[in-house]
Amino acid sequence: MFPPRLVKLEEVTNRLRDTQKRVEVLWQEPESLAFVARGREYRSEFHVNDSDEFTYMIKNTMNLHYRTPEGREEIIVIPEGSVNFMPAGTPHSPRFPLDAFALIVERGRRQNEIDKFQWFCPKCDGLLHEEQFVVADYRADPVSQAYRNFFESEKARTCNACGNVMPKP
Ligand SMILES: [Fe+2]
Repeated sequence: MFPPRLVKLEEVTNRLRDTQKRVEVLWQEPESLAFVARGREYRSEFHVNDSDEFTYMIKNTMNLHYRTPEGREEIIVIPEGSVNFMPAGTPHSPRFPLDAFALIVERGRRQNEIDKFQWFCPKCDGLLHEEQFVVADYRADPVSQAYRNFFESEKARTCNACGNVMPKP
């Protein structure tokens, strides 16, 4: 939507550092959703959505965990100044420290499109729990809401396959 705009990434990362906020949405349009995220040191879940995802590491390094179509966990290390392309539908888990900052560009969500957040058992790697959200507004921070739901429920953190209970962080 008009007008075009300029974003200075250094101003955004400084603002996130000063306010201790996790995410600042730069724009949110039907074909393009962009935000700067700082690390969530506690992140353990895999995010699944139907949009390709582009990640540029502005500051420091990200370990981007993902799961192959066969269900195997792999890790791509994205150093500062590098970019990653993550194909739509790939379960992925960006793990980076609080003093690391990433620019992430996806497309906006279609109406009623569902984002999934999945946890896998730390003991047997079976699917532990899935949270689903319709993300109408990314500023609502669906990641934080998914974590609250998961960690406040011992049932959600208990593995149906092996009985292991994933501890709170
Ligand atoms: Fe398990």
